[in-house]
Amino acid sequence: MNYRVIQWATGGVGRGAVAGIINHPELTLVGCWVHSADKTGKDVGELCGIDPVGVLATNDVDELVAMEADVVMYSPIQADKKVVARLLASGKNVVTPLGWFFPGKRDVDVLEKACQQGNSTLHGTGIHPGGITERFPLMVSALSSAITHVRAEEFSDIRTYGAPDVVGEIMLFGKTPEEAINSPMLHFMGDGFIQSIEMVAHELGFDLDPEPTCTHEVSVATKPIDSPIGVIEPGRVAAQRFTWQGTVSGEVVITVRTNWFMGEEHLDPPWNFGPEGERFEVEISGDPNAKVTFHGWHPESIAAGLKRNPGVVATGIHGVSALPYVCRAKAGILTYLDLPLVAGRAAPHLHKTRGESAQ
Ligand SMILES: NC(=O)c1ccc[n+]([C@@H]2O[C@H](COP(=O)([O-])OP(=O)(O)OC[C@H]3O[C@@H](n4cnc5c(N)ncnc54)[C@H](OP(=O)(O)O)[C@@H]3O)[C@@H](O)[C@H]2O)c1
Repeated sequence: MNYRVIQWATGGVGRGAVAGIINHPELTLVGCWVHSADKTGKDVGELCGIDPVGVLATNDVDELVAMEADVVMYSPIQADKKVVARLLASGKNVVTPLGWFFPGKRDVDVLEKACQQGNSTLHGTGIHPGGITERFPLMVSALSSAITHVRAEEFSDIRTYGAPDVVGEIMLFGKTPEEAINSPMLHFMGDGFIQSIEMVAHELGFDLDPEPTCTHEVSVATKPIDSPIGVIEPGRVAAQRFTWQGTVSGEVVITVRTNWFMGEEHLDPPWNFGPEGERFEVEISGDPNAKVTFHGWHPESIAAGLKRNPGVVATGIHGVSALPYVCRAKAGILTYLDLPLVAGRAAPHLHKTRGESAQ
């Protein structure tokens, strides 16, 4: 069974996803939405830096809503809930790194209704949030009993993330410390990480206090720092540490932290990643303790990351890998707790079906 896929946007996540869709033995790319007018009418492969795929990009939402397709990999810069609802109501499943990781009672009535109308599924997945902060901690937690604390933490050099709108307007680099600390984007961005905390607490059975805690620390440039949003001038935000924590009667039981730095030089305070460098970590305190460090999702150099950032590609691929499972799932907003194990697939030349046809 091959599922017909529409890719929504060809930013870093979208370009990684398209390559993943082409490599996936159960998926066929049939459509692609782009935001930029100058990308419309172009072959999607060309837009994504791979061979032509015979599918032309469009910015016509109506055309894509009407298209025969099973699922949409939805990765624009910001979610348009009305468009997501239309896609779901038209019978297409939607997978996205933009939210709905564990929405609980958040404002989802319209989307739930659209899922029921279209017999479709909405699933949020990514890397951070959407992987490191809940899926992998839950998996590792199964090897410990009497768990007292779960930590998920990212250490990344954001000079390698070539998405200026995300880096400047969502992640708040280059702002004054006052602008960054008072920005409403903090709550917007924190919502995904707080959903992760709620998912872990729900499954492990932590009886969380009603409000999570959120700490936002910034470090400013002491000299001009080159970055994907241009030069960050002295005094502007050049490194940030966000910490969200879930507590039980005031005792911290879940910690999610991002260490996002524009390098490790010319920062005040002078933060660094420590001897282990860039990485993602998952740690479980229990019987026994466990600590898992993930490498490979950070590029080897700034230039390599700006061309193709493995963490951004991994975000897209986590969504792509979920597509067949979501297509086979019941209707509704489904999380990792509802879906079966999601796995990747063998390379085309090693895969049993494509390997045979390639011979
Ligand atoms: N959960 C996670 O782990 C995770 C990880 C990474 C990223 N993300 C999120 O995923 C999204 C995409 O990230 P990215 O790295 O691919 O960003 P990106 O490289 O900046 O690409 C975003 C794309 O959005 C489209 N776009 C631009 N302006 C738009 C607008 N006003 N309205 C709608 N779409 C617009 C463009 O599409 P076209 O190029 O097709 O014209 C652009 O390429 C972001 O929201 C980011 O925060 C989540």
